[in-house]
Amino acid sequence: MKLKLHVWRQNGPNDQGRLETIDAPDVSPDQSFLEMLDDVNLVLAKAGKDIIAFDHDCREGICGMCSQVINGVPHGGQERTTVCQLHMRQFNDGDEVFVEPWKARAFPIIKDLVVDRNGLEVIMQAGGYTSCHTGGTADANALLIGKPVADYSMDAAECIGCGACVASCPNSSAMLFTGAKVAQLAVLPQGKAEARKRVMAMTEAAKEFGFGNCTNHYECQASCPKGVDVKFIGKLNREYMKALV
Ligand code: FES
Repeated sequence: MKLKLHVWRQNGPNDQGRLETIDAPDVSPDQSFLEMLDDVNLVLAKAGKDIIAFDHDCREGICGMCSQVINGVPHGGQERTTVCQLHMRQFNDGDEVFVEPWKARAFPIIKDLVVDRNGLEVIMQAGGYTSCHTGGTADANALLIGKPVADYSMDAAECIGCGACVASCPNSSAMLFTGAKVAQLAVLPQGKAEARKRVMAMTEAAKEFGFGNCTNHYECQASCPKGVDVKFIGKLNREYMKALV
């Protein structure tokens, strides 16, 4: 099938940027969106033109690198699907497709569709870990954790840190990301010791980096490719209140 792409081209954070129209004349419905862009880049390279810069790593929906807004929706709008797992069978012959980077003040554009998501790393470095020395690998049954608690923690740990929550939020809030990272540790015995310090430090880091606050738009949950629930923002708020007293 034939598609008309409108791709965001920008040479750096200070460049104004623009949408460039590029034809994709021979798209297979079995290709992933990134494979389609690979083919487009091959044609651009052969013609001596500047190829489209875009991020990717695993191409398996795991790493969270493939940060693109497709037709106005982070990751393209297919439920629980990253861009790398989005297939061209979702599009129709003759479609016009708009491809843009995450747009948020805390994510400066490096080039075209590639943004600097270091802000999420800064939040993690502030406290998204446990620093207790655990020694060698413990017997799996030495520390019993109830199934509901383990499930809750695993649901939070589904977050792949892609930043779609920030890109979809009118406040560029990273509270779903921060909430998931706080919650995954806060309910486990290993994470409780530093829970107060962690939530204060991570919240402060998010604020200092320029991420906004949650005002209940729920766009983060809707765009999250892993279905991370906004209940983790509630957990973040409760952990923060606990840390204040
Ligand atoms: S490239 Fe890793 S999640 Fe898409």
